[in-house]
Amino acid sequence: MAKIKKVPKHLAIIMDGNGRWATRRGLPRTFGHKEGIKAIERTIDSCLKHGIKYCTFFAFSTENWKRSKEEIEGIFDLIRTYISKEDNIFLKKHVKLSSIGVLDPFPEDLKSALIDIKEKTKDYDKLEIIFALNYGGRDDIVRAVNKLIDNGYKKVEEGDILSSLDTCSLPEPDFIVRTSGENRISNFLLFQMAYSELYFPKVLWPDFNERHFVKALMVYQKRKRRFGGLS
Ligand code: IPE
Ligand code: IPE
Ligand code: MG
Repeated sequence: MAKIKKVPKHLAIIMDGNGRWATRRGLPRTFGHKEGIKAIERTIDSCLKHGIKYCTFFAFSTENWKRSKEEIEGIFDLIRTYISKEDNIFLKKHVKLSSIGVLDPFPEDLKSALIDIKEKTKDYDKLEIIFALNYGGRDDIVRAVNKLIDNGYKKVEEGDILSSLDTCSLPEPDFIVRTSGENRISNFLLFQMAYSELYFPKVLWPDFNERHFVKALMVYQKRKRRFGGLS
């Protein structure tokens, strides 16, 4: 396999296809989410292996509240268990965990687990994993603009908005991967993705592994990013 020379600094992943993965096996959708957690774990290992600095995972959108209470609670339980288990990858491998999105509506035990792991990993600087939780690109923009209004702005520039978004401490995403073959963005990092490279592999998220990760990196390194200029 050809050598990977150029990796994205910030990779962002729309983890899609958990439900279909389960349904195809005659299992409840929650089983797909459970397998999806394993794919997150594999992907974090791949990020460490290939020197990715930032990886954002779209885990729960502002629209996902439309799903059944059972599925939503199942997802919250899985995330809480994953981040609070004793040998979790963040503590074990010195990976920083942060989040974007509005955490207020989440159950208290999930919020406190998040606060705890964020605090414990905040000084790790090899790799930062960002969970997008109750995140919507439009909501992010609206909240950013409202922050600026609260601070007395009458007129704003692009930079003001960028520095008021949830992602203000992160570089813009270089590469956005959405699994499961859906060719849409579903309200992910709308403002931030102005010049992101996009890739839509068919693999369902629970099946995503190092081989798919490397394939994605190969796709990325072939892209010619011009940012409106000439190469
Ligand atoms: C993505 O998988 C996970 C979340 C949105 C939480 P889905 O649950 O959307 O899986 P499909 O799209 O129904 O297969
Ligand atoms: C996007 O997937 C959100 C996450 C992966 C968390 P969805 O499955 O919710 O998106 P749509 O409804 O197919 O557009
Ligand atoms: Mg989906």
